[in-house]
Amino acid sequence: MKRIGVLTSGGDAPGMNAAIRAVVRAGLARGLLVTGFLHGWEGVIQGEAVPLDSKAVGGIIDKGGTVLRTARCDEFREFEGRKKAYEMLQAQGIDGLAVIGGDGTLAGARALQEEFGVPVVGIPGSIDNDISGTDFSIGFDTAVNTALEAIDKIRDTAHSHERVFVVEVMGRANGFIGLEVALGCGAEAVLLPELPYRISDVCDQLKRSHARGKRSSIIIAAEGAARASDVKDFIFEHTGIEARYLVLGHMQRGGSPTAFDRVLALRLGALAANRLASGFEGEMVGVDGGKLVCHPLSYVLSHERTLDAERLLLVETMSQ
Ligand code: F6P
Repeated sequence: MKRIGVLTSGGDAPGMNAAIRAVVRAGLARGLLVTGFLHGWEGVIQGEAVPLDSKAVGGIIDKGGTVLRTARCDEFREFEGRKKAYEMLQAQGIDGLAVIGGDGTLAGARALQEEFGVPVVGIPGSIDNDISGTDFSIGFDTAVNTALEAIDKIRDTAHSHERVFVVEVMGRANGFIGLEVALGCGAEAVLLPELPYRISDVCDQLKRSHARGKRSSIIIAAEGAARASDVKDFIFEHTGIEARYLVLGHMQRGGSPTAFDRVLALRLGALAANRLASGFEGEMVGVDGGKLVCHPLSYVLSHERTLDAERLLLVETMSQ
């Protein structure tokens, strides 16, 4: 193996830059040349390649977003698109790829490997933290902290005005962000896509807590479970308690990565480059109980990550 490629694809996540830096510098340390592809799989198909040396990845460890840019590429979902990508990788002399992204990105990497024999190693990068085979994906910790910073401010005004606030956080298909944020901000209730819920139950809970003297409440709704504006309207109509809502949206994907995400990204990026240099392929790097691990992409993509029951119970217990 002489030259590896690195790319970021799908939704960006804070810490992706630290991961790119780690792939490049660990790759160089192993005697590899490194090429960056812009705009994810789209850039591979179009041949948007840039040589990356140590200097090119200087000064980015603290930056949010991804200097390689990213995209969601429909063409790459089709065999013909992946064929074009393979041909372009051949033309660029790429012997292996470090791919940073979420489950869609990793599924694309696996298809490229299986259909065309391109050695790939995946690096989990997604604020959603919904990827199996790792305790954490890059960006989750920062996204949760970003949401908490905003919600702490909301709590102040909720308290002063004795209002209920419904805060919508990201998570189209899963509630990992929602659950962590709910615990971290001391939410009175949380609505998650994985769990059936009735807003009328939330209303009953609010009425009970108001009867006990509680004067402000925060409800966290993951975007895949409910729209915050609808929940707010329902609460007001069924309880008469004054309510407001806030959609945190894409601000959760931006910002400087936390120390946790930076170090995670460095460890995972360096491991990915080392695995490629040592001839491993078709796997994803991750952490398990703080230790670095590698799992076959086939395992990662066929296992679903589930919510932690102990955490769920804790939200309920703490909201009493
Ligand atoms: O997968 C990351 C994520 O931020 C999800 O939480 C969210 O539902 C989605 O991406 C939003 O995607 P887009 O950037 O295409 O609006």
